Amino acid sequence: MSSIPDPITIRTVEDIDELEAVHRLEREVWGGDDLVPVSVLRVMALEGGQVLLAWHADHEAPVGMAVAFIGRRHQEWYLHSHMVAVKAPFRRHAVGRLLKYQQLGYARALGLAYVGWTFDPLQRPNGQFNLNVLGAVAREFLPNFYGSLGDRINGEFATHRLFVEWNGCTTPRSASRFVVVPDDIGRLRKENPQSARAWAERHRKKWDRLLTQGFGAVEMVPGRWGVWCYRLQRISSEGTNRSEN
Ligand SMILES: CC(C)(COP(=O)(O)OP(=O)(O)OC[C@H]1O[C@@H](n2cnc3c(N)ncnc32)[C@H](O)[C@@H]1OP(=O)(O)O)[C@@H](O)C(=O)NCCC(=O)NCCS
Repeated sequence: MSSIPDPITIRTVEDIDELEAVHRLEREVWGGDDLVPVSVLRVMALEGGQVLLAWHADHEAPVGMAVAFIGRRHQEWYLHSHMVAVKAPFRRHAVGRLLKYQQLGYARALGLAYVGWTFDPLQRPNGQFNLNVLGAVAREFLPNFYGSLGDRINGEFATHRLFVEWNGCTTPRSASRFVVVPDDIGRLRKENPQSARAWAERHRKKWDRLLTQGFGAVEMVPGRWGVWCYRLQRISSEGTNRSEN
């Protein structure tokens, strides 16, 4: 990572003008028709959720955003992080983690159990960000969670997701299982959609089996021949993929 940009400011926002900037950032990163309307962002911002914008001192427009609301899952209240995005030129400069830590602080202030969100395990950089940089743990697999999104990142591919939980604590290491991930699923989806679909199907079966056995993904590690893998270890003694309960 290059040095942390200096200075980055992160602020909670609720004014319509600022929420429109959040909406523009969402359009810029994901595109498509399935954007969160400004009216819904406004409700999230004012009624217990949290909407954040990140600014760089040398730029007029915000460079990142995060949107979260309070959720309940398996009898626990948590902060559901629906979107976090940083403008492409500002990525890998720690803006993403600053936004996430702001969410964690908010969740803690409200006494919530953790910050939770979904992510596509085929997106290797997101796996690295969520597990290695933040230390979140994934122990639920949600097949085709959003249906077809048709946006720039997901296209018409199945939206298989892992649900991660993050409370800022570390997980002690134990015996491992591994799930290999393609280097660049975005390129594969464009250049060889059939292979991308085969990856998604293999992942669906593998995640479903391992998480049902009580494993959870705790980090990404470089494997043989330069490929990256998720490292899983036993998390719950119940041996259930909680998404099936
Ligand atoms: C995910 C995202 C928010 C991260 O924001 P960021 O400002 O780049 O995050 P940070 O700089 O704090 O951390 C970046 C880390 O993520 C991982 N990462 C991100 N992009 C990567 C890439 N192309 N290759 C390898 N690792 C990558 C690395 O671990 C990296 O740390 P490093 O730079 O020290 O190696 C940003 O990439 C983004 O906006 N992506 C598009 C939207 C999206 O997918 N959001 C949902 C995420 S669940």
